[in-house]
Amino acid sequence: MAEVVIVPTPEDAATLVADAVIDLIRRKPRAVLGLATGSTPSPVYRAIAARINEVDASQVQGFALDEYAGLPASHPESYRAVITREVVEPMGLTPALVHVPRGDLAHLRTAGSDYEAQIHTAGGIDLQLLGIGGDGHIGFNEPGSSFASLTRVKTLTRQTREDNARFFSSIDEVPSHSVTQGLGTILRARHLVMLAFGAAKAPVVQAAIEGPLTASVPASVVQMHPHVTIVLDEAAASQLRNADYYRDAYANKPTWQGL
Ligand code: PGA
Repeated sequence: MAEVVIVPTPEDAATLVADAVIDLIRRKPRAVLGLATGSTPSPVYRAIAARINEVDASQVQGFALDEYAGLPASHPESYRAVITREVVEPMGLTPALVHVPRGDLAHLRTAGSDYEAQIHTAGGIDLQLLGIGGDGHIGFNEPGSSFASLTRVKTLTRQTREDNARFFSSIDEVPSHSVTQGLGTILRARHLVMLAFGAAKAPVVQAAIEGPLTASVPASVVQMHPHVTIVLDEAAASQLRNADYYRDAYANKPTWQGL
């Protein structure tokens, strides 16, 4: 099953995940990181950046989960811009090794297959960071997404556009479409690290971890992956039925196992 780690604060979660990422880069200088956007992973990126001089990150490769369709890469809220600002620059990664799906209209038809080919050429993703949307999406795989899906164009739900309107001056400016890694793409990553913070995420976290496997909650696909770590703060974990078991399992875990 997925390992569920419940910590007091997002900063504690960031420390744990940063440890795992730094260890991975130390073991594998050409590590391939799967990068999520949104508010959730920000403390993780800050924690990694604070320790990045412990390793040589110049050969680290990165693949963003998704990109808006139809938003120029130069737009400050394009995921290319966000990844550059929050990940590439603070961590000092090599920009040419960090990939984001192409959301420009001229390349939409082939953006998905091109991206899959790039991930394959890089040797696959070692550690994929994931947030979870209020509607249960991971990446921009909205409810109903196929568990076998690969990178492709997806229409955003109204809820996702409302959730993301805070980054734009109005909801009308939030693009209606995206190019996103599919659930099948995400399942191919060797280690999934899903993060969620705050009480607003508690119901969807409970559904994804303890509810039925269903495309209606795309994040429930993590139940099918052999190596998943789910790191939650107390508020996001507050509706889990088996929280005591998860705490017990983590407290008694041999330290050599790592995350
Ligand atoms: P958030 O978004 O981290 O901004 O809550 C999560 C997501 O939509 O995947």
